Amino acid sequence: MDYQKLLSEQQRSDFEEALDLMVRKTVEDERRIGIEFPYVTNDAGAWRTWPASVSAGYDGDAWSHGNWFCGFWVGLLLACHLRSGEKDFLDWARERMRLVEPRADDANTHDIGFIFCGSAVPFFRLTGEIRHAETALRAADRLRARLINTPRGGFISSWGPLSDERGRRSSAIDTMANLPLLYWAAEKADDGSFRLAGESHARMTREAFIRPDGWTYHAVEYDLWSGNIHRGYTFQGYGDESRWTRGQAWAIYGYTATAAATGKLEYLELAGRLADSYLRHLDGSRVPFWDADDPAIPNAIRDSSAAAIAASAMLEMAALYPLPGDGRRWAGEGIAILESLCRDYLAREGAHRGLLKHACYSKPHGEGTDSAVMFGDYFFVEALCRIFYPGTLSALPSRLGQGVQG
Ligand code: GLY
Repeated sequence: MDYQKLLSEQQRSDFEEALDLMVRKTVEDERRIGIEFPYVTNDAGAWRTWPASVSAGYDGDAWSHGNWFCGFWVGLLLACHLRSGEKDFLDWARERMRLVEPRADDANTHDIGFIFCGSAVPFFRLTGEIRHAETALRAADRLRARLINTPRGGFISSWGPLSDERGRRSSAIDTMANLPLLYWAAEKADDGSFRLAGESHARMTREAFIRPDGWTYHAVEYDLWSGNIHRGYTFQGYGDESRWTRGQAWAIYGYTATAAATGKLEYLELAGRLADSYLRHLDGSRVPFWDADDPAIPNAIRDSSAAAIAASAMLEMAALYPLPGDGRRWAGEGIAILESLCRDYLAREGAHRGLLKHACYSKPHGEGTDSAVMFGDYFFVEALCRIFYPGTLSALPSRLGQGVQG
């Protein structure tokens, strides 16, 4: 789909301004942040950084997701290269990859999907450098190895070493947005078992996570012997039964990718239903509150990263829908979200180092609660690249349109 034809002059100019701002800020930050990677901005608007090597795990009862955003910085450097044509960005991205690559062997987290779909996969796509494909395939092997088989199906365990039962029995909604690594690997390695693992997870998540209200749990704990749901709960949302908006955006994103990878319309329709629930709850703004059930609404904080993820997913949905009318509808929704982000959330001031202000990483943990977050910036840029540089940052092979199955 040629999204550019759908843009007004104002939208085009706003979106191009955002891409140019990305280039300016990224070059400045790359020169000053050293070997660590940005993840959330502090109260003054400066990036807080972490080494790429920090893995996920438990410290007693406390859980840390580790550094799951390092690949996104590489992705932004690649997007800057696309935008500016400057070779320096590729050189920096190569240097950064050396720090990120060891995480391909990280057996502690589902987030290696995020890490390598944001870095090695587009790096290989843009340059043909085989090293990056090999790295991404190693990571995909690790992700596939997280598949836990139960009598009710297989799911990918999200958190922690598989030897730790707390993580082994748990799955999170964000795993859905890590599946594209498996789908990419299925095509690259010509090994359908990657796709089967991803689809199995998507099926089990459909049964276990999606509530009658059309919203998703953040996490589900399974009984490992039966595969039955032990409980649905939250880690980063307001409450176990609440509507954590970023989780919903991850689900929309993941089911869209699953539709593309499997060629099955049922997943695209599910992504559409989840997106409808998400859109229905909006209060006139295109950027949701961090959790739609926070009693502080209308004074609750918003989450621009949820909007960015949803926009990127909706643009992809638009390309997959077999009927042009449906496709145009989702493209329109995605573009409208980007318009709102550019108009009201873009961090034009130099002191604020992120691209999108007013994201919420984790309210319950008091971390990055009204700041820029690296993944928000990345998915914002991914969405813009779908419009201006199609087939670059994200480009899942689509089996839809090559014989849609019911
Ligand atoms: N851990 C995924 C998220 O914060 O959305």
